[in-house]
Amino acid sequence: MTIIDGKLISAQVKQELKEEVEKQKANGGKIPHLAAILVGDNGASETYVASKIRSCEEIGFKSTLIRRDSSTTEEEVLEIIQQLNEDDDIDGFIVQLPLPAHINVDKVIEAIEPRKDVDGFHPINIGRMAKGLPAYISATPFGVLELIKRYNIETAGKHCVVVGRSQIVGLPMSILMQRNTYPGNCTVSLVHSRTQNLSEITKQADILVAALGKPEFITADMVKEGAVVIDVGLTRVVDTTKKSGFALKGDVKFDEVAPKCSYITPVPGGVGLMTVAALMYNTLLSARREIY
Ligand code: GUN
Repeated sequence: MTIIDGKLISAQVKQELKEEVEKQKANGGKIPHLAAILVGDNGASETYVASKIRSCEEIGFKSTLIRRDSSTTEEEVLEIIQQLNEDDDIDGFIVQLPLPAHINVDKVIEAIEPRKDVDGFHPINIGRMAKGLPAYISATPFGVLELIKRYNIETAGKHCVVVGRSQIVGLPMSILMQRNTYPGNCTVSLVHSRTQNLSEITKQADILVAALGKPEFITADMVKEGAVVIDVGLTRVVDTTKKSGFALKGDVKFDEVAPKCSYITPVPGGVGLMTVAALMYNTLLSARREIY
């Protein structure tokens, strides 16, 4: 059993990006510039955005953080997006989710210029990704693909079961794993909260991607011997023994599932760190106009 080291791989990806940016700077090229819009005071979002801004600094990208309080209107968010769309120095930007309930997420995402949508959330990027055209691939699925690649995990002909149908992880993950390329060429099953006999299907998985957001939902009896298990879950649960008052839990009951696996990602230290690295990669692509 191999524990996939997201910390190591994300550090490698970031080091490679840093070297690319240094080369680009030396050749008089543009320094990639990422902006992030953060609305409200969701604690997890604060942590994620801080990590994205810190990664920009480590790699040598420019970054801009635009913070607004939770009373900000949808119109105000749309105005900020318009300004970023038109700002030639900004290569890409993200709107951190979730947004306060009074703001329509779809309207916000559709206002982002697809060329600057480094999260890959815009319908144009999702549609292009589904067709296999050049597109920004959303950061978490992209990070998972990179882990599979860097561990040379075989995927062709395998049964990949994705648990969870979210727009930003489950759905794109299922599309990516069936593509006619590596990593891909899988037979894919997408299962969700309404699936009957869910564990009968997860037990057939050669590659199991858990992305439903329910801490420790996947137990040993749901996993086939020798499976590759990718845990995308990242839920904060109260833990009074921790200084922060909470612990991060994945969707997989790691201690009992790990001994059955060929490969498994831990939480923390697995997919989460790759999400940030993948966003940085998309930002470099946007600065180079490699997708559009
Ligand atoms: N919220 C949870 N994950 C993400 C992500 O990848 N991007 C954005 N913008 N918000 C998120």
